[in-house]
Amino acid sequence: MAKKLYIKTYGCQMNVYDSARMADVLAPLGYGTAETPADADMVILNTCHIREKASEKVFSELGRLRRTRAERREAGADMIIAVAGCVAQAEGAEILRRAPEVDIVLGPQTYHRLPEMVARATRARSLKDGKKRRGAGVLDTDFPPESKFDHLPAPAPDQAVSAFLAIQEGCDKFCTFCVVPYTRGAEFSRPVTQIVDEARALVAAGAREITLLGQNVNAYHGEAPNGGEWDLGRLVRHLADAVDGLLRIRYTTSHPRDMDDDLIAAHAGVPQLMPFLHLPVQSGSDRVLEAMNRQHEARRYYEIIERLRAARPDLALSSDFIVGFPGESEADFAATLKLVEEIGFAQAFSFKYSIRPGTPGAAMENQVPEDVKDERLQRLQAVLNAQQVAFNRAMVGRVLPVLLEKPGRHEGQLVGRSPYLQAVHAPADQSEIGTVVDLRIEDIGHFSLSGSRVPSEHKPNRSNRETLQEAVA
Ligand code: 5AD
Ligand code: SF4
Repeated sequence: MAKKLYIKTYGCQMNVYDSARMADVLAPLGYGTAETPADADMVILNTCHIREKASEKVFSELGRLRRTRAERREAGADMIIAVAGCVAQAEGAEILRRAPEVDIVLGPQTYHRLPEMVARATRARSLKDGKKRRGAGVLDTDFPPESKFDHLPAPAPDQAVSAFLAIQEGCDKFCTFCVVPYTRGAEFSRPVTQIVDEARALVAAGAREITLLGQNVNAYHGEAPNGGEWDLGRLVRHLADAVDGLLRIRYTTSHPRDMDDDLIAAHAGVPQLMPFLHLPVQSGSDRVLEAMNRQHEARRYYEIIERLRAARPDLALSSDFIVGFPGESEADFAATLKLVEEIGFAQAFSFKYSIRPGTPGAAMENQVPEDVKDERLQRLQAVLNAQQVAFNRAMVGRVLPVLLEKPGRHEGQLVGRSPYLQAVHAPADQSEIGTVVDLRIEDIGHFSLSGSRVPSEHKPNRSNRETLQEAVA
């Protein structure tokens, strides 16, 4: 009998990837996709713990699910409720205690065991009324010796044009604000052959762009096909050569410390590697960087960017920033603003520091008052937004290669992505999905650009690379 699964995903792209893999793992049990929780025989909340109020959001969502399940039960159906991801890892049994409606709590490293957990959860329901016996919830937040990656089925055949592929997981950096080393565990790199196989399967299923994922992806050091280890630069070059039909490669998220020569060289030498890099710096102040345990000074970030831009002059940058880390003074914050002004970002994410229980930052005494954080965040975001708008504006009149991904807002229109991940709408036919076309950017809207086709005989003589180089400059 066909069953339906609804997964609600919070947080990062790794969670998006994990959600897709959980769906793959459950497909052989007969689970197809539900459009809403009300239609679902099983609901998974794939949670994020990185910033504020994560667990509160999960508990209020669970409250809603309890009501939805009661309605389904009245109609003679039922629902299994699972909490996955980093809140599950961090809170564990506390979730089963506070929210008895939850059947399964599983961490990010155990989802290959989901079929077994579903079976156990189903058995745990009492025969009498279909309700779970108290304390019968299934909890699996181990860091098991076997890798979940060795147990994952092939990706579903209806693959999107742009796909994620996790190549690395966990983190050994222990930035003092961050929960990732605790929730995702120690740094782990998948072997090269496993990654190549998955990349080929994704391309065979329709993907044309692959974003290599990892919490600290450029720390990648996976087992090479003939022994030894490869770093990320080598892996990227190999994927570009070995996977036919793969048009674009990206990777995220990186740490400045792991930006090595080989990877910088890949930016110069691999045309499939897109000229857009998310490289979080967090702060421009050496004092704060030190307190954050980022293990580098601001100067080092400037140097890396300089070398990357020398390797790939049309490279555009993205970053993450935290304001109001404990001890951050007005002068420290000014150093962050200066870094933003000097480097220039095409886009960025910025956050107020939020205390994560169990991390060293939580115990620091010189916490910054909330109103100061608010005010600094506003000032930083004003600068970052202005840079983003200027970057997008500079695209108008230029020709960008756009990978067409899916139908756009209107009939006869498709939407795709520029090298810089900007969404671009353009007149195109359905049959062109998955191809890269040259588009002259006509207009910028709130969330996307729009472009017109450049007839091949009128293509500019200058390469896109030269044209784009000016836009980023
Ligand atoms: N408070 C605020 N922002 C945080 N980030 C991670 N932990 C915290 C925290 N405790 C931000 C960092 C990181 C991004 C994914 O989330 O900027 O790069
Ligand atoms: Fe967290 Fe730092 Fe590791 Fe990034 S590098 S996941 S911020 S500990």
